[in-house]
Amino acid sequence: MADDLEPLFELVSRRSGSALSKQQRDRVTQAVEALRGGRPVGALLEHLESRRGAKDLVGLLSAVSVHKTDLFRDEAQLEALEEHVLKPLARTGRPLSLWSAGCSTGEEVATLLLLLERAQADARSTVLGTDLSTMAVERARLLTFSGEALRRVPVGLRERFFFKESGAGFTLRPELAARARFQQHNLVEQPYPLPERGGAFDVIVCRNVLIYFTPEATDRTLGWLAERLAPDGTLVLSAAEPVLKPREDLETRRVGGAFFYEPTRRREPSVSSPPPSSLTPRPSAPAPRPSAPMSAPTPRPSAPSPAAPPTPEQEGEQLFALVLEWAAAGQDDDETAQGLRKALYLAPNLAAARYCLGRLLEQRGLRNDALTEYRRALAVLQGGRAMPTPFFLNPERLTAACRAALVRLGG
Ligand SMILES: C[S@@+](CC[C@H](N)C(=O)[O-])C[C@H]1O[C@@H](n2cnc3c(N)ncnc32)[C@H](O)[C@@H]1O
Repeated sequence: MADDLEPLFELVSRRSGSALSKQQRDRVTQAVEALRGGRPVGALLEHLESRRGAKDLVGLLSAVSVHKTDLFRDEAQLEALEEHVLKPLARTGRPLSLWSAGCSTGEEVATLLLLLERAQADARSTVLGTDLSTMAVERARLLTFSGEALRRVPVGLRERFFFKESGAGFTLRPELAARARFQQHNLVEQPYPLPERGGAFDVIVCRNVLIYFTPEATDRTLGWLAERLAPDGTLVLSAAEPVLKPREDLETRRVGGAFFYEPTRRREPSVSSPPPSSLTPRPSAPAPRPSAPMSAPTPRPSAPSPAAPPTPEQEGEQLFALVLEWAAAGQDDDETAQGLRKALYLAPNLAAARYCLGRLLEQRGLRNDALTEYRRALAVLQGGRAMPTPFFLNPERLTAACRAALVRLGG
């Protein structure tokens, strides 16, 4: 009988912050087989938790990471960042400190360096790039990218700031590359890095990292990131990672169709000031298309009351509503799937989200995974546990849709 790898999955989830999907568990299983060399699971666990095993542990944690990234990823958000955050900061004339937390292979660091240059920030400004994966950090240090990766970089910047080395791709020019620093760092562990000049970071960009985290790891990481922000600093998450729970340390700022987070200003309580809410749907998201499988009439998630923190189910429901909006606005399928998985992690009985996930997997040709989701949705519906989703299909229509999908896929 195969060994029970559950303690290893638990270790990987705890030390990486990730809520492991089925694919990630499969990747851990493969990596463990390569690592254990016949050792029993208990001995491997002991090794991984020891100082000697630290490198192997990082390798194992990296095996579950999704490194997908791009130069100028989410241009609308970056435009808002440049206009409303970087340019005003640059006008102060002091060198700025930025941090790309979870920088993957360096595309985000290069993007920030280019944006700083365009915003005419002081030339002593720096960008720190950190990632859990040593391999990703090593790649990132090269600041060299394929021609395809450069497709979204505005032509003027591309021509001015990249040069081609024979066969190696396009490398960022040394005058900008010299402003980058890299280090391996795990966001679920302390200590957190400091800017080179000390103090705190003016901007921390942590996009498409927390979306894979468990709610507990997300909560803790947000707190630690907030501690590293300058009082007038800005935290940037991806559009798919809204901070749903009101927090004492961060408040939301909506600008130019994007939203950012800032350290909460200490102010006197005022009777007329509105209650803090961290849930801020993107104002620029176009109205969802009613006929598309991933879309629905614009959802109206019930806003969490400031007195009572939302339950995980309410959080899941709110996240589902946002994921649908962004899917309709053209968000990447991988991120939509992760968003749906996260919503389902919080609210497993959200049959409508389960059905959407099934549709998405089916559209991507993942028949077996799609069947699993449809079956789970149906079990929840037939067991009377389905959470009502007023903005979506009612349970009867959903039941019919799931049955039709099973027939369609011959399951
Ligand atoms: C999908 S990539 C995002 C890259 C980039 N931020 C972007 O949005 O294009 C996620 C990155 O987060 C890193 N990561 C995952 N868990 C992490 C952790 N606990 N600490 C630091 N980095 C982590 C992964 O190794 C991966 O490179």
